[in-house]
Amino acid sequence: MPIKSAVFDAYGTLFDVTAAAREAAGEPGQEALADTWQGLAATWRAKQLEYSWLRAIRGDHTDFWTVTQDALDYALEAHGLGDPALRERLAQLYWQLSAYPEVPAMLERLKARGLNTAILSNGSPGMLEGAVQSAGLDALLDAVLSVESVGIFKPAAPVYDLVNERFGGTKDEVLFVSSNGWDVSSAARYGFRTLWVNRAGLPVDRMPGTPDTIHSDLTTLEEVL
Ligand code: 2OP
Repeated sequence: MPIKSAVFDAYGTLFDVTAAAREAAGEPGQEALADTWQGLAATWRAKQLEYSWLRAIRGDHTDFWTVTQDALDYALEAHGLGDPALRERLAQLYWQLSAYPEVPAMLERLKARGLNTAILSNGSPGMLEGAVQSAGLDALLDAVLSVESVGIFKPAAPVYDLVNERFGGTKDEVLFVSSNGWDVSSAARYGFRTLWVNRAGLPVDRMPGTPDTIHSDLTTLEEVL
């Protein structure tokens, strides 16, 4: 079946989740971050995802902004960074993460081909609106789908159900794109066509559901259409 909708994970796929720590590290007075921002960003992301999975399994949902702040507080303590001003700056920057450079032109090309384009993300509606607006992507997306509509985080199936509920059609008419191996594996298992944007050059996860295609960024996405 031809692809009718291209649906993107947000954090790590369209938006650079390391950008908040990297940008803070470059600001005056943040010399303490210069050598540690990469470790901080990695711990922050790992805990953010771990907390989302635990909450999904336990049925103990809260919004992703709360989870993101909880993970930030853990990461700051783990890296010995207790400055409240730094915490607030990092939290503020997370609402305006930069999009990867190839994203706007790629979305424009998909719209020119007549595809539906959307985000499907754990992000709360407010977080996603902030990121989409600050990156200037709002005119290039037909929908921004948040797990808050179903009250459970990825990779629970009701999250992926949101796509065909929004656009109609069938699962095999959807190309799901994510940089997160666990997300793209789950989407493949669910029945979407899948592209893993393996930005970090990682191995394929040993889980049921493997990506149909693997690219290193989004510049060559049209090759799979
Ligand atoms: C998302 O945006 C957490 O990157 C994941 O849903």
